[in-house]
Amino acid sequence: MAAAKILVVSGDGIGPEIMAEALKVADWFAAHRGVKLEREEALVGGVAIEAIGRPIAEETIARARQADAVLFACAGGPEWDFLEPGKRAGDGLLRLRKELNLFANLRPVKVFDALVGASALKPEAARGVDLVIIRELVGGIYFGEPRGIEAIGNEDQRGFNTETYSSPEVRRVGEVAFRLARTRGGHVHSVDKANVLEASQVWRNAMTAYHAAEHADVTLHHMLVDNCALQIVRRPSQFDVMVMGNMFGDILSDCAAALTGSIGMLPSASIGAPRADGRYHGLYEPIHGTAPDIAGQGIANPAAMILSLALLFDYSLGLSEEAGMITAAIERVLADGLRTTDLAGPGETPVSTSAFGDAVVAALGRA
Ligand code: IPM
Ligand code: MG
Repeated sequence: MAAAKILVVSGDGIGPEIMAEALKVADWFAAHRGVKLEREEALVGGVAIEAIGRPIAEETIARARQADAVLFACAGGPEWDFLEPGKRAGDGLLRLRKELNLFANLRPVKVFDALVGASALKPEAARGVDLVIIRELVGGIYFGEPRGIEAIGNEDQRGFNTETYSSPEVRRVGEVAFRLARTRGGHVHSVDKANVLEASQVWRNAMTAYHAAEHADVTLHHMLVDNCALQIVRRPSQFDVMVMGNMFGDILSDCAAALTGSIGMLPSASIGAPRADGRYHGLYEPIHGTAPDIAGQGIANPAAMILSLALLFDYSLGLSEEAGMITAAIERVLADGLRTTDLAGPGETPVSTSAFGDAVVAALGRA
């Protein structure tokens, strides 16, 4: 195969540490399976603010557009998260998502058998959970206009944002959900707040109509977001594919991460429309942040980052078998009892970030 062009963004905090482990795994596939990746690095987030005064350079956006995929660790930190809008560390990532029109963010939540005991839920609730949250990623309240902060006298302020969804925006992310459900359990839960918000009423109407017109073979359920938060921690096994707006997806995916034992286990794929060959231009990143409190100590869990590489293989390179090998290797390492600090229970000695990565590479070699 021709070398695929990957833009590598290590970002801030634990980013460089976990990225190093994902790249070890990529190197193994280059050496043993002929997976050729042409890697280029770019600065996004706090490191970019320090280097050029902005969270992302225009040139980085152009390079991301030209690459086959972006492998992204995490960006942000307390020193850059609360600057003025547009200049915050997270704005670099938000611009990449928006400019590349990556409207669907897939967040698979799978509870590995070896980690059932580490879940925040009782083992009987956590066992076998395998769901995918599809978060709309370039619309909703994250990007709606008007937005801003205005002075209202007496040094008081008023902050405002706009939640907005149009039928075409709902249909295109709905399409991703219905198609994915067809390859899985055949169920889609569409999550909204249609009992209060007009944007959610449009969401629900568009989802209902599109389902009836094009995807009636899949079962569609509607669920209100507050009830959904409850159901995720009460009986998560009822879910197969879930689809929701940008902010609901941000919140509920962190909540669902508690099922897996650690937020350090959850990867994500951000994709747009498929290209003619069925593959996607995409951005792949763990759902966790930069964890500044543990950065530089070599103790972060690299699993979400490595699993994000698996999603990149699958969605952007068409290498679904190799993606499955990565997931299986992580599963084996966990079954062997290796735990990073976030997952280690009482009496378990945690392994370092790099020891975990080395064990994944070794497990690939034994496959
Ligand atoms: C996420 C993160 C981002 C988001 C931040 C870092 C901008 O929380 O990917 O879930 O809110 O989308
Ligand atoms: Mg989030």
